[in-house]
This record gives sequence, C-alpha cells and structure tokens, in this order.
Amino acid sequence: MIRSSLAPWLIALLLLLPACGDSAGSDPLTDAIQAPPIRPDAPGTREPVRYDGDNPFVLEAIARLTTGEDLHFQVIQRTCSPNEGVCHNMQEYPDLRTPSSLVEQIGAPCNSQPGHWSTVYDRCEPPGDRFSLQNPSTQPMEIAWIERVPGPGTDYRAEGTAPELDSPGLHIRLHSPLRLDREEYWSGGQFIRTFERIDEGGRAVIEDVTFATYTTRWWVLEGGQHLVGEVRDYQSDAVNNLLSVGIQQGDHNRNGVFGYREGLNVPMVAAGDPERSYLVARVRGEMLGETVPGTRMPLANQPLSIPEMLAFFCWIEGLPTDGSPVDMRWPIDYTNCSYAERPEELNLLGTGTSWEGRVRPLFIANCGGCHGERLAEAEFRVTGDDAYERLFQHSTQIDTMVLLEPGQPENSYLWWKLDGHEQLVGRTMPLSPSDGGGRLSDEELADIRTWIEQGAQDN
Ligand code: HEC
Repeated sequence: MIRSSLAPWLIALLLLLPACGDSAGSDPLTDAIQAPPIRPDAPGTREPVRYDGDNPFVLEAIARLTTGEDLHFQVIQRTCSPNEGVCHNMQEYPDLRTPSSLVEQIGAPCNSQPGHWSTVYDRCEPPGDRFSLQNPSTQPMEIAWIERVPGPGTDYRAEGTAPELDSPGLHIRLHSPLRLDREEYWSGGQFIRTFERIDEGGRAVIEDVTFATYTTRWWVLEGGQHLVGEVRDYQSDAVNNLLSVGIQQGDHNRNGVFGYREGLNVPMVAAGDPERSYLVARVRGEMLGETVPGTRMPLANQPLSIPEMLAFFCWIEGLPTDGSPVDMRWPIDYTNCSYAERPEELNLLGTGTSWEGRVRPLFIANCGGCHGERLAEAEFRVTGDDAYERLFQHSTQIDTMVLLEPGQPENSYLWWKLDGHEQLVGRTMPLSPSDGGGRLSDEELADIRTWIEQGAQDN
C-alpha cells in the first residue's frame, strides 16, 4: 500500500484531533499514524556491471552518469536548484534537492494538490477520507471533493430557501449517496480516515479515526450524494481550519474517476518500473499512453538528453523492489537495463522536420514551462489543441509581424526570436531562467527552419 502520510497535513491533523481517552504514558496519536519508513544507509557495495555493447548513448551515460549520485547531481539538481521560482520546493512539488530526498520519493504518493484541482491526474488521487452525519447516523461514504463556496453566511431555512449546487457554503460531493429522507438536518458532520498503527505486539492494526467534526445545518442535494453545510459568519474560522487539514479527496479533479479506488494510482518513483513512476511521467508528459496534465518538467530549462533519460530509467529499473535500502553511490546497472537496448526511444525532442515529429516536441520541452497553460509569457502558448493555429497570429511584441509566415523564416517573428534577429524585442528564446541567455542547438534550429521553409505544415 502506498503511504498516505505527509508531514504538513499530519501536523495540522494532530492539532485538530480531539484528545483521545487512552493516556497510558505514551502519546497514542504519535504511535497511531504510520510515518514514512526510514530507510537506513546501506554501504555502497554494489559492483559495477561490465557493458560490452557499443551504443553511444549508453557509453555516454556510463561515463558521465555512473551512479545514482551522478544522476541526482547532474540531471535532477541541475534542472531544479539554480532557478528559484521554477524550482521544486516542498509546497507544491516534491523536494528533490538532495540525493536522499530523491530516495524518499520511492513509493511515496504522487502529488495530488498542485495548483488548480482540474490539473490533478487521476493516478495521483489518494484514497478519499469518508464523511457521515452523526444525527441521523449514516454509513460513512468516500469524499469525492470538498469545497467552500464563499459568500454571505446565509441561514437558508430562515429565508425559506434551500442552497443550490453553487450556493455559498461547505460543499461535499460523495462517491455514493448518504441514505437520508429529509431535506436538511442540524448535525455533526464527521470526517473519517483510516490509519495503520503498530500495536505493542508489533502487529499492524487498521483503525478508523474521526479526525474532525463540523456541526451545522446540512442540506441534502442530488439524492444524498452532495451535502451543503451552512457556514455562518461565526463558523468561518472553523471551516477554514477544517480545510487546512488537507482532507483527502478521492476524485480531486471531479471527473468521476476515483484514481486510488480504481487501482490507477502510481507513486512518485515505482521501484523497478519507470513507466509507472510519476516523476518520469512529468518529464515525458505521458504515462502508459495517457497524457499527463500539467506542464512538463523540467519547467523552464534544458530538457533531458537521451543519456540522461536512460540514466533516470535504468536507475529506477534497478531499484530493489523489496523495500530494502537504496544507496545513491551504487553504479547504475546499464548492462541489464531493458532501456539500454534502444535508448533512442527515450528521445523527448523528436526527429525529422515535421510539426508533430520534431517542432512540437522541441517547443513543448523547451518552451512549455513559460509558454503553457498556467503561464503564457507574451501571450505565446505552445500547449493545447490550438497550439498550431496560434502560431499564425500576429506577434504581441511587433504587431506588424506574424509569428509564422509559411515558407519565409525571415518574415516570421518566431524565427527572429529563435535565431536572435538584431531587430527583435526582448531576448532570444528559449530564455534561460538562470542566466537570461538561451539558444537551441544548431541542429534543432536547422530542423525548425526547414519546417518553416517547407510551408510550416500541420504534418
Ligand atoms: C524562462 C521562460 C521562457 C522560456 C523557457 C521561453 N520563453 Fe519565450 N518569452 C518569455 C518571456 C518572459 C517573453 C517576453 C519577454 C521577452 O521577449 O524577452 C517571451 C516572449 C516570447 C515570444 C514573443 C511573442 C510575441 O507574440 O511577440 C516568442 C515568439 C517566444 N517567447 C517564443 C519562445 C519559444 C519558441 C521558446 C522555446 C524554444 C521560448 N519562447 C521559451 C519567456 C520564456
């Protein structure tokens, strides 16, 4: 089972929990909540495995990215540390700043709370907490999502009305309806989570804990599948506290799919299985044939080269799957790595000179972090279904020019920005967040130029 305990909500949760009865010296709560496993240091004894092949990508990876530490230092940390602002930190993205923080991602749940709810990936949805009413007592049901709709603290009954699906209040949508036959109840609403703890005999005990209660008038909508709790002015703080705990939402992105319940969920790093590792999916933009929402990683920096991708894949594939300790000093085993047979397939930057095969992958990997859904500098965007059509708009920097003039790179402002034309406004692209410079390789520029010269087709 994937760990579901993360420090920030844990602390908030402990603060919110009512003092429990059992006071036999030790704090029962600290024991009750399963902490992330502590992985002891292992001696770096794994012997390097000899590689007899001649694939140049594998040879480069072996020479430059020999161990897990090399992978962290040269690939993960390079793409993260120097540029504050697009860097991974503990708030929104996993902390990847040290080799051991990368090790901690093994088996850890992938992030279900980055930015807006609609950008959450089904495969990162955790098991939802459950909700029930105290009076009348109902069977607890898994929470799909919870949201406070702000607005005046209405007493709906006094006004002779009832809340609707978008009315102010605390909205809770459930996986299955609560069995209720009235329109409203004054009751405690209970939030329940399952915890695993180790008892004195060393056995794992699964326990359901009511970790918060909110008492108010609850209105029953959608046949009991949607409840709206009134939030009067004096209750506002209580509701904010409740929401700051980080209630787990089983269908966080509200698309009807409960990722965890439906067995779709994946960890940050799945030992032995790069294809099921969310970190890899964020670098590739896809997982198991599905598009992964959110901007590609690394956000605004050099995309990973083929030897770097190979090191990432082979490191994950070679991780022990039995939970035994990992040492970043171990050599990465390229010889037995299944991806070392055809590392070319890990190329993120496309080949040839077509839009789909080369130009789009180059743009997404090099430009998507600043010209994407969440951030579109200078109103330029390379992501989304209309990315191609948008290339023929006028430039916002020189509005007498179009971004792309098929067949004519010299009259295409996009080409000016890539090639560093002397009359361009602003800087040459791709802007590098660390030093303000930036330029694609000659080979990449030549392929884009050829594509424009050949009519900039949607091919
Ligand atoms: C680190 C962020 C960043 C990256 C990465 C980046 N850009 Fe930009 N881009 C900007 C900013 C900021 C501006 C506006 C200021 C400027 O032009 O210097 C801009 C402006 C532009 C414009 C002008 C749009 C217009 O309508 O006039 C184009 C075109 C452009 N970028 C293309 C690209 C392409 C193509 C790439 C990738 C090869 C890229 N950018 C990568 C930040 C970035």
